[in-house]
Amino acid sequence: MAILVLEDVSAAYSNSPEILKGLSLSLERGEQIAIIGRNGEGKTTLLKVAAGLLAPTRGKVRHFSSSNPAILLQNPRQQLVCSTVREEIEYTLRLNALDDKTVARVAQDRLQQFDLEHASEQHPLKLSGGQQQKVALAALLCREPELLLLDEPDAYLDGASRREFRSFFSGQVRAATIWIVSRVSELPEGMKAMRLANGVLSSLDVDEK
Ligand SMILES: Nc1ncnc2c1ncn2[C@@H]1O[C@H](COP(=O)(O)OP(=O)(O)OP(=O)(O)O)[C@@H](O)[C@H]1O
Ligand SMILES: [Mg+2]
Repeated sequence: MAILVLEDVSAAYSNSPEILKGLSLSLERGEQIAIIGRNGEGKTTLLKVAAGLLAPTRGKVRHFSSSNPAILLQNPRQQLVCSTVREEIEYTLRLNALDDKTVARVAQDRLQQFDLEHASEQHPLKLSGGQQQKVALAALLCREPELLLLDEPDAYLDGASRREFRSFFSGQVRAATIWIVSRVSELPEGMKAMRLANGVLSSLDVDEK
């Protein structure tokens, strides 16, 4: 059963040429796909359209989930709003109408899960880019989204940190996911991948991987 369907979607910013040009995509419940494209091909635009943040100029975007899609922005600074990492997590949990005691307990679990305990009392914007991405993702996952839209979610991580992040993701996250990358070397292993080029999606050749 599909959770997200894009039908012949075109998109543009005001006074700009078309960026998405009649693009179609169907994402099943629980399906996780990666989308790769060169800089400026419209990957972020595609995620914004899929999230409902940008209206398509043509075509339809259909959601079939009971909750709002969770989007991790390419620049996590744009979605970190609290004064400490712990508050950032607690804030999202409170939106789920949990009582204070449960909020504190679940926040502590999340901090441990993401290896963020040591940073829990720091200001999110003082962390490294990779840590900011982890905080933003941890907060999003507290909403238990059915659809997760990730714009280069581990672009600031490298080596062991990236491997850790990815093994956490594949072990813990079951939500339907679109995971954007800009380089073949960043494609998550084992994930179906598509290429965004010239405003449309196509399957990625095996020898491109
Ligand atoms: N808010 C905006 N207003 C006008 N043009 C925009 C806006 N955001 C992006 N663009 C333009 O739309 C095109 C696609 O941008 P987009 O950010 O979607 O690409 P991208 O594939 O995500 O790039 P990157 O790999 O650099 O993240 C680019 O030419 C960009 O300059
Ligand atoms: Mg982008």
